[in-house]
Amino acid sequence: MAEELILTDNTTKAQRYAELMPQIEGLIMGEPDVVANLANIASALKFGMGFFWVGFYLVKEDELVLGPFQGPIACTRIRKGKGVCGTAWAEGKTQLVPNVEEFPGHIACSSDSKSEVVLPAFKDNEVALVLDVDSDQLDDFDAVDVEHLEALMRKIEAFL
Ligand code: SME
Repeated sequence: MAEELILTDNTTKAQRYAELMPQIEGLIMGEPDVVANLANIASALKFGMGFFWVGFYLVKEDELVLGPFQGPIACTRIRKGKGVCGTAWAEGKTQLVPNVEEFPGHIACSSDSKSEVVLPAFKDNEVALVLDVDSDQLDDFDAVDVEHLEALMRKIEAFL
């Protein structure tokens, strides 16, 4: 396993993802432990992409429960259908939110969070976890993030 991420300065977001994703694959390759892999993925995304907050919420019975993350402390439990994360779980679909204040029922773990993207990963055709990425800037996520992060969710499904 590599000891540090190798990333070029001053790249576009798409180039940065293209550099980072193979390194994330290298981090998780051959490691079956779910928490270890999610922890390293959260760190690689935080430091590789410079995200404000990035982490996982795991489906546990009838709630999402906070899992490995990087960033400020966060809400620990989210009900199905509540907030952006609970909606991604209930609908089984990526939620791209340019302005969190305009998302009905958004859960403000941090008042600094302005936009977010939440993506589900599936096990046995059920949502098993969501990846939540928050920005302190409005409208900070787009189709490039969705494309690369959805591809990452498919890699995560391989070890769930
Ligand atoms: N904003 C999320 C809650 C999780 S935190 O942002 C880390 C939501 O509305 O589901």
